[in-house]
Amino acid sequence: MLIYNPRQMALVTCKGKHALMGKSTEKHDIVPTTWHSPASSHPPMYAIFLENSTMACKLITQSGAFVVNFMPNSQVESVKKAQVISGEYTEKIEHLGLHELPCEKLVDSFRIKEAVGWLECELVEEKSFGDHILFVGRVVHSWMALDEKRVFHVEGNEFTTTR
Ligand SMILES: Cc1cc2nc3c(=O)[nH]c(=O)nc-3n(C[C@H](O)[C@H](O)[C@H](O)COP(=O)(O)O)c2cc1C
Repeated sequence: MLIYNPRQMALVTCKGKHALMGKSTEKHDIVPTTWHSPASSHPPMYAIFLENSTMACKLITQSGAFVVNFMPNSQVESVKKAQVISGEYTEKIEHLGLHELPCEKLVDSFRIKEAVGWLECELVEEKSFGDHILFVGRVVHSWMALDEKRVFHVEGNEFTTTR
């Protein structure tokens, strides 16, 4: 097992223009992410690390916005599926059986209806580290809708939960 696991799995959502086969289209992406953390309390900031080859990196750099959606354990199958479907070629949310909602404060992103809580982040800094990019966002809105068991990744296809 990785020394820093289990880690909570969140779904990062973002949207923006993306060029595919020479055509620029509006894309929405959902990235299962275990590398994420609070970065400051005052002002509230949150950090995520995304693989530098992913479409999500381009979308976030361009839109300057992302949302971190914390998922209930009851949605573990959707979370697992989100790892193996690419947002570049499919409307990922439809395949996952999840539903998109507008953000409370951000215009250039969206949130997931089934999340137990979410953080709406405005990008303030990005920095490359090896094969990942660190994105730090100022939290402009946060909400915890439900106090439910969350999804944690252990190793490979093994997941666990709290309590
Ligand atoms: C357990 C697990 C944790 C992951 N954590 C991250 C992460 O923290 N950052 C990241 O960029 N990708 C992470 N990934 C890989 C992304 O989930 C994967 O690149 C993404 O689903 C690709 O979606 P896309 O093609 O729509 O961008 C993780 C994958 C798994 C299986």
